[in-house]
Amino acid sequence: MSTHGSHLDPTVASLLKLPDDERIRALLADRFICHEKVGALLAECDYLAHRPPSLRPRGLLVCAPSGSGKTAFANALVRRYACHPATRLKAATKPVLLISMVNARDAEEIYRRLLEDLGCQRANRYTGKERRSMTLELARAANVQMVIFDEVQDLLNITPRQRVLALMGIKDLMNSLLLPIVALGTQEARYALESDQHLHARFAFRALPVWESDDYFRHFLESFESSLPLKRRSNLGSLTMMRSIIKATQGRLADIVWRLQIAAALAVGGEERVTPDLFHRSAYEFPTIVPAPSSQRRKPHGP
Ligand SMILES: Nc1ncnc2c1ncn2[C@@H]1O[C@H](COP(=O)(O)OP(=O)(O)OP(=O)(O)O)[C@@H](O)[C@H]1O
Ligand SMILES: [Mg+2]
Repeated sequence: MSTHGSHLDPTVASLLKLPDDERIRALLADRFICHEKVGALLAECDYLAHRPPSLRPRGLLVCAPSGSGKTAFANALVRRYACHPATRLKAATKPVLLISMVNARDAEEIYRRLLEDLGCQRANRYTGKERRSMTLELARAANVQMVIFDEVQDLLNITPRQRVLALMGIKDLMNSLLLPIVALGTQEARYALESDQHLHARFAFRALPVWESDDYFRHFLESFESSLPLKRRSNLGSLTMMRSIIKATQGRLADIVWRLQIAAALAVGGEERVTPDLFHRSAYEFPTIVPAPSSQRRKPHGP
């Protein structure tokens, strides 16, 4: 059994020298595993972003239950397309815009959020018309290549008229910038798009998995394990572990990640691997966390 980190990614293996409390914090930090299903979606988004601009830009709607990794996927897309700071000759770039549709009641609000993502503070000072033209202008200057709308199912919580107006705003953006749109939401998101048949017809529909004991899940668990700075191999991809993880979480990624991180943190300084017993205990036990020095602490995110 490996005790020197040969089962880990090299960058993760180097974390084995950290003191236990730091290793626990590293184990509990968010990580993004580019598993096969998500890799295929990223490749499809790359295709949409890189194909020559078309008069009929296309969209992708990724539907999956809560906790399946939609927002994590959106953030991975944002990181994938690096922003470049302004130089003397070129404006700063921001290739991917990401906004949430929670409570977005009309196109004006959508443009306000896009402007904020483009770095324009207090966009509510401007009229709807001004917001639209500023968004288009700034998006061209920032070389935006894709816009992501998260929580699209929230469009069902507004009036039908508001929904039509919000969808018209999305369609207008798509047509004016000739850009692909990536929409994310629960299964209901599909019904939200149906209020605009023209827009709906431009979207391809994809899903993120609810996991089951198969090769995809095994590969995910193997990658996840190699990202956990524990001294010994856990064999998360064994059939027994896979089955008990699925049984305990019903295949919901948020719960899988939550439980595995706790189990891994509980293993530090003891078993040094995730055992079936530690996984079981992760349902009701928590590791002790020594707070990080203030210089290492993450600032809380705003609303
Ligand atoms: N590819 C991934 N690799 C590792 N962890 C992931 C991955 N995707 C998601 N997670 C983790 O799973 C949890 C849930 O993910 P996320 O918030 O993206 O789900 P969601 O589908 O957006 O949920 P909701 O519909 O409630 O907004 C988070 O803790 C996230 O860090
Ligand atoms: Mg989300």
